[in-house]
Amino acid sequence: MKVLLIGSGGREHALAWKIAQSPLLEKLLNVPGNLGTGRFGQNVPFPLNHSEALVDLAQREAIDLAVIGPDNPLADGIVDAFNQGGILAFGPTAAAARIESSKTFAKEIMAEAGVPTARAHSFSDAAQAADFVRSSSQPWVVKADGLALGKGVIVAETVEETLAAIQTLAATPAGEVLLLEERLHGPEVSVLALCDGKRLAALPPARDHKRLRDGNLGPNTGGMGVVAPVDDVSADVLDQIVATCMQPVVDALLRRGAPFCGVLYAGLMLTAQGPRVLEFNARFGDPEAQALLPLIDNDLLAMMRDCAAGNLKPESLKRRKGYAVCVVLAADGYPGKPRKGDQISGVEAVEDNKVLIFHAGTRMGTDGLATDGGRVLGVTGLGATLKQARDRAYETANRIKFTGKQLRSDIGG
Ligand SMILES: Nc1ncnc2c1ncn2[C@@H]1O[C@H](COP(=O)(O)OP(=O)(O)O)[C@@H](O)[C@H]1O
Ligand SMILES: [Mg+2]
Repeated sequence: MKVLLIGSGGREHALAWKIAQSPLLEKLLNVPGNLGTGRFGQNVPFPLNHSEALVDLAQREAIDLAVIGPDNPLADGIVDAFNQGGILAFGPTAAAARIESSKTFAKEIMAEAGVPTARAHSFSDAAQAADFVRSSSQPWVVKADGLALGKGVIVAETVEETLAAIQTLAATPAGEVLLLEERLHGPEVSVLALCDGKRLAALPPARDHKRLRDGNLGPNTGGMGVVAPVDDVSADVLDQIVATCMQPVVDALLRRGAPFCGVLYAGLMLTAQGPRVLEFNARFGDPEAQALLPLIDNDLLAMMRDCAAGNLKPESLKRRKGYAVCVVLAADGYPGKPRKGDQISGVEAVEDNKVLIFHAGTRMGTDGLATDGGRVLGVTGLGATLKQARDRAYETANRIKFTGKQLRSDIGG
């Protein structure tokens, strides 16, 4: 198969690494790719917002499957463009990706499908939202409706904070519509599943770490680490989450004529009343993919092709035993203004089948490997136990050096 992989983060390096293990792969084109993806195929520098040109490229190269990593091209309809151009794609159409790109739409689908989630009220007018909060005399979780790079949610503690949050989010492009949500309590977990429009195959439950610093302190980031599987989600609870929170959404989207193909990602809170959905994403998470893909034992490319063809065989998913811990190494200044161009050492000769290093923001300069983005590298340790996976990840993460390196020391407990 000839595969076109879209994206340039650690997620895409992990996808390229996994796809390259498939005996089906003939050729891999990465658009635009990064230093990591370049090891498994050809990187093609290309703007992602020119879907017509991308479809031309795919047709010229006789691509058999396009795999889309990031959320923005999905929301913009890149899969619709591929499909119209006769190219099979793993990823949802814009209509199905609305489950991520509009939190109001997600609530609507969840209500229709009977999925347990926090009670919420939607407002297209910030003044009305503020009036509602004053008359309710309680704090609310305030959410911008649209894609906001992880900056669209404020968990307010007081009525005053809720009003300030409305002001803040209403001023952002994603905040034309706002959601006020009841606050839930409990540990969070993410369940990602491959989906062909009808059926789901769930990957091991994962836990991300969004805050920059240990103890879940500091500013929000794209993600500083991931653990999978998480032991507080038993096989029974995982089945329950798929059956009550995910399958009904897949069914509802199918009924609406917007079948969901790709990775359906449920962000959940395990409350005293049971699992509740906080949000859906329409793609692999990054860094979630860096921990989850190494836990898949079978041919992922074959499964993605089957999903795109509407022909998923969920039983073909084989989970590898053991744990994965991914620790992200971020640049100085991340998540605000990351500094670029710092030399990186310690990446050489550490790779075996127990530790994987995924490139996110790196480049090869005249003086060797250097930082070139906010999240620089992801280090995934694999092990029979959580401790072994964590120790392996940190041994390598601590050996890699660059000026201003930021990492959390508490991923995996
Ligand atoms: N209803 C809620 N109650 C408590 N915390 C919430 C609630 N909704 C969201 N959060 C917190 O805010 C974070 C971000 O919210 P989420 O809906 O996942 O949006 P996004 O990932 O798009 O920023 C969650 O991971 C969770 O910690
Ligand atoms: Mg989230």
